Amino acid sequence: MSDAKDFPSAEFFHRLSADENGYRKLADWLKTTTGIHMPPTPKNFTLMASRLSKVMIRLGLRTYAELHRNLLDGDPSVQKAFIEALTTNKTEFFREAHHFEILPRIVENIVQHKTELRLWCAAASRGHEPYSILMTLLESGFNLQTHRLKFLATDIDQTVLEAASKGVYRADELMDVSSSLRSKYMVKLRDTAAGERWKFRDELRNLITFAGFNLVGFPYGFQHKFDIIFCRNVLIYFDPKTVLKVKTHLAEALAADGYLFIGHSETGASRVPTLQTMEAAVFKKLQEAS
Ligand SMILES: C[S@@+](CC[C@H](N)C(=O)[O-])C[C@H]1O[C@@H](n2cnc3c(N)ncnc32)[C@H](O)[C@@H]1O
Repeated sequence: MSDAKDFPSAEFFHRLSADENGYRKLADWLKTTTGIHMPPTPKNFTLMASRLSKVMIRLGLRTYAELHRNLLDGDPSVQKAFIEALTTNKTEFFREAHHFEILPRIVENIVQHKTELRLWCAAASRGHEPYSILMTLLESGFNLQTHRLKFLATDIDQTVLEAASKGVYRADELMDVSSSLRSKYMVKLRDTAAGERWKFRDELRNLITFAGFNLVGFPYGFQHKFDIIFCRNVLIYFDPKTVLKVKTHLAEALAADGYLFIGHSETGASRVPTLQTMEAAVFKKLQEAS
């Protein structure tokens, strides 16, 4: 690897965004490895260059060809930096509120027949989604004394997962978390230069297991099935064939009568026969034929 200090970043950025051949190789690797589909369009040439130029300067890589070689060689730090630069981690608390309105009713139905609830949040990003789910469960009266909760939150991006497991958020990210929820489930940290910040209480954070997981790493191989899976706002980055495969494997990971939540903008064409639409962007797993 070479010293990158001599790269003027604007010139470097332009050189990368003009390298269509290199782009195609990287986009192929990205799609095969993560499912993220970035077709070769002028907008994506710019997007990839802007996401990668800083990372490449940090890693001392001059060209897409050099980066591609490192990816093929299996350098884990380069692979991690590349994948994390190209994931989009946008998220918010109680995003797509409709799902949080119907969740209590769904949970109530499930726990009538079980003493354990198994939940998986499969693209958890920085944690806003799993903590929103958890607060909704507890607010709706889910009883941790009478029912065991197994809650797995995963993402392909380790850096956002680390932030999720810390559970620290700036006040401006918490606009959709009411002050009563904040004082019940979070503690205010001492003010720093970063401004007002709040942290989820340890008792809450300890209820969630955060782990790396790639949605296109088939087969999934879980020992136990889940009652509820949230997999929202990640399928939009995959092509239709990959969406169908992921939904099929998610359906397999669901218990009979379990529920799959996807993003409201992800309800398009691909249909999985074992999943029945219940509500907007909510599916119920049908009983498997015996
Ligand atoms: C836009 S965020 C959505 C976060 C959250 N589900 C929500 O709806 O607010 C998409 C997340 O999917 C993750 N992701 C992308 N490809 C993935 C893959 N192949 N396996 C697991 N997670 C992936 C990204 O790292 C990112 O954190």
